[in-house]
Amino acid sequence: MKDLLDILVLGDGGREAAIVWKLRQSRRVSRIHCAPRPYFGATHAVGLDPFDFAEVANYVAVNGIDLVIPGNENIIAAGIADFLEPLGVKVIAPSRQCAALESSKEYAKEFMSRHAIPTARFMTVTTDWLDEGMNFLDSLKPPYVLKADGLAHGKGVILCHSLADAKDTLSDMLEGLFGEASSTVIIEEFIAGRECSVFLAVDGEDYIFLPTARDYKQLRDNNDAPNTAGMGAVSPVPYAGQEFLEKVEKRIVIPTLRGLKEEGLDYRGFLFLGVMELEGEPLLIEYNVRLGDPEAEVVLPRMKSDFVDLLEGIADRTLAVKRIVESDLACAAVVACAEGYPGPARTGDEITGLASIKDDCLIFPGAMKRDDEGRYITSGGRVITLASLAADIPEALTRVYECVDRISFQGKYVRADIGSGINNI
Ligand SMILES: Nc1ncnc2c1ncn2[C@@H]1O[C@H](COP(=O)(O)OP(=O)(O)O)[C@@H](O)[C@H]1O
Ligand SMILES: [Mg+2]
Repeated sequence: MKDLLDILVLGDGGREAAIVWKLRQSRRVSRIHCAPRPYFGATHAVGLDPFDFAEVANYVAVNGIDLVIPGNENIIAAGIADFLEPLGVKVIAPSRQCAALESSKEYAKEFMSRHAIPTARFMTVTTDWLDEGMNFLDSLKPPYVLKADGLAHGKGVILCHSLADAKDTLSDMLEGLFGEASSTVIIEEFIAGRECSVFLAVDGEDYIFLPTARDYKQLRDNNDAPNTAGMGAVSPVPYAGQEFLEKVEKRIVIPTLRGLKEEGLDYRGFLFLGVMELEGEPLLIEYNVRLGDPEAEVVLPRMKSDFVDLLEGIADRTLAVKRIVESDLACAAVVACAEGYPGPARTGDEITGLASIKDDCLIFPGAMKRDDEGRYITSGGRVITLASLAADIPEALTRVYECVDRISFQGKYVRADIGSGINNI
């Protein structure tokens, strides 16, 4: 690859903001382009719809783009790599078929079973198998985990505390609670463990671990429902030390990559493992085929090495000669959401206080825009993510919450207990 690259980032959340922020520190970037909107002075691909792959291909050709990074799962599952790679464009994402590891929970669970990867016991249910599903629920102990098979913006998993509620919810989901995404439902045994997000860079042959993270999925304090796409995160994860990660590698990473190969799948891109630590042992909850949001906002700031070198390793299958230098600092991120999130969120409110933050925190804008008068206005549910690097997790949390307090908008909602109780490093 060339020394200096032109890079196009697709997607418009806090994660993509973190990707652009990290790219800007690289000594190997010529220009950064961004669609559908700009971050941190990146060149804005005006009017470019990330889902219109022909338009993306045209933009890439006209602007001499060397590398495309799709941030979110929907673009990847729609097959952007399959479309662009035959045209000679390098894409940091797996194929549509590989993306089924995330876009179908049934496919993912069957894949785990085929390759003896430790995971929660489960049953796949459609309307034709409702009775079997009810019987399986009868055989489990509360709480009950019900998952929509398809992509549902991180909101398709429901935890039910009573059997009656689980049965009602199963029926509701099959009847279209999440539309087509829940026409198939996975019922899972509940694992009372501690979660850990493990990210890998994968080039089809070799892989590199990125820093670990813990994200907080539930909307309310004390991990109370409903699930969201993530309310905050910390890195590293104190209970996922070297010994634990070696188990993850042996029992999950190696069988996963071997399984992909055996099935003729060439996986390149980022791979996320949603791992549950139970009495020191790892169980795999799910795969994602990209960086997480808000995990990217804590993982990328903790990588001291050059991001483009890593991306090049993925694209050119040279990860064997790359390595990541992890910072000794800890990072904590908190997402400020709009009222109503994860349902339809209140929008159009002015956001104040951003200017007072300056360099005290990293600011990763999400669902916000500038109006004609230059004011910042909310435009969706996940408004903004703030992140702080500090000597340890408690210090990073103190700093990030101090900055979050300086931001205001009508209906602002923040989880107050991100990272609390997590052992210090
Ligand atoms: N078997 C399980 N036992 C306990 N908690 C679970 C289980 N499966 C999922 N969860 C919880 O639900 C969250 C979302 O589930 P996940 O499978 O990661 O779906 P998604 O991220 O697509 O919404 C997890 O992060 C975890 O908190
Ligand atoms: Mg998940």
